[in-house]
Amino acid sequence: MNLNINTNDKGNLSIGGADALELAEEYGTPLYATDENRIRENFQRLNNAFIKHYENFQIFYACKANTNLSIIRILEEEGCGIDAVSPGEVYAGIMAGMDPQKILFTGNNVKDEEMDFVIKSGARLNVDSVSQLKRLAKIVNPEGFKISFRVNPMVGAGHHEHTITGGKKSKFGIMDKEAVEVYSMAKEMGFDPVGIHMHIGSGFLDIGPFKLAVNTLMDIAGEITQKTGIKFEFIDFGGGMGIPYTPDENILDIEPIAEEIIKIYKSKLEEYDMGEPTMCLEPGRYLVGDSTYLLARVNSVKEGYKKFIGVDAGFNTLIRPAMYDSYHHIVIADKPEAKTTQTVDVAGNVCESGDLFGRDRPLPDVKEGDLIAILNSGAYSFSMASRYNSRPMPAEVLVNNGEVDLIRERENLADLFSNQIVPPRLLKKD
Ligand code: LLP
Repeated sequence: MNLNINTNDKGNLSIGGADALELAEEYGTPLYATDENRIRENFQRLNNAFIKHYENFQIFYACKANTNLSIIRILEEEGCGIDAVSPGEVYAGIMAGMDPQKILFTGNNVKDEEMDFVIKSGARLNVDSVSQLKRLAKIVNPEGFKISFRVNPMVGAGHHEHTITGGKKSKFGIMDKEAVEVYSMAKEMGFDPVGIHMHIGSGFLDIGPFKLAVNTLMDIAGEITQKTGIKFEFIDFGGGMGIPYTPDENILDIEPIAEEIIKIYKSKLEEYDMGEPTMCLEPGRYLVGDSTYLLARVNSVKEGYKKFIGVDAGFNTLIRPAMYDSYHHIVIADKPEAKTTQTVDVAGNVCESGDLFGRDRPLPDVKEGDLIAILNSGAYSFSMASRYNSRPMPAEVLVNNGEVDLIRERENLADLFSNQIVPPRLLKKD
């Protein structure tokens, strides 16, 4: 099975050695339950595959996928840096004990105050536009200040139109054809441009476009080196490596992929005489996506023109099916491998018709009170969750070889309104 489904001796879903039913019983639902070892395995598989062919290799975890501080801590322990896209993510990295030099800030449409925050925090700045570069020169003394640029290699890939970030329609980065000019301009302004970066999109399982983009970025970097004399300290190919969501999608075979990418990398370094810059990758989903299960309790079974299995979580906890029509595999926690007997819609508790976790989904028998687990809820799940419908944010637990820790408390009703201020003239007088 390409999906991360393990059972214990009772036949129940096991999450990192803990029984999913017991987790739901103890911590309530909806609940995000994360298997710590899975994150470590994902990191090590990817890191080992590349590092064995090229030593100067560094992974930056794209923490937009999941900013839980314990998860960032796990990856920091493994030697990972982070890719941050907002001051909040830089702050999360620092709170999690990350060396600021291992935080690369790649913002988009960044304002001056945000750059100022990033610089003061000691994180590295990856510049997205000439407009941003000019504003940066007013905030910081450019003399010797290290920067990098995000370059659009005009190749894109992703599981959905909204997650493709390379190509002519993309708002991200500087254009391929202006790259030499922009690097020269930065140099003339006094900056020290030490890096080049791309991110072509998110959730691809076909590595073809990525290889093409690696080739293109290396040619761009090579041309920059030859025309401006800039020696890169690092070359960052971004993230985007997908994971299987459906039972018939394949896992990326990372070993041969790493070998091929490094081969391209080394031959281009040699071709353009670029030395041995650190090669970087920025995966989010690949590291954490399959580590987490969203547990929800079935509270209603409705039969009509269609059969609906109603659960106590909604798209406020996992927006991907509603937003991208994404498939998330669903199992019944006390019989994750049972045969399917019916086709149902698995519906959430948000007051919108689009609030479906699964449409026309084959499932085994399900009854009220059963627990379901929605797989691959580690990336872009809690981090995209909201309080819509005034539902408090769920709790998160981390499981390490059967040991369970609460890593985020469930919010309560008062939390929902804690930042609101009712003007005295509107206060109820009694
Ligand atoms: N680096 C940069 C600059 C990025 O913008 C992203 C993702 C990544 C790395 C990591 O991509 P990953 O390895 O996780 O695919 N909400 C969407 C995904 C949006 C990704 C945005 N940027 C989803 O749920 O599929």
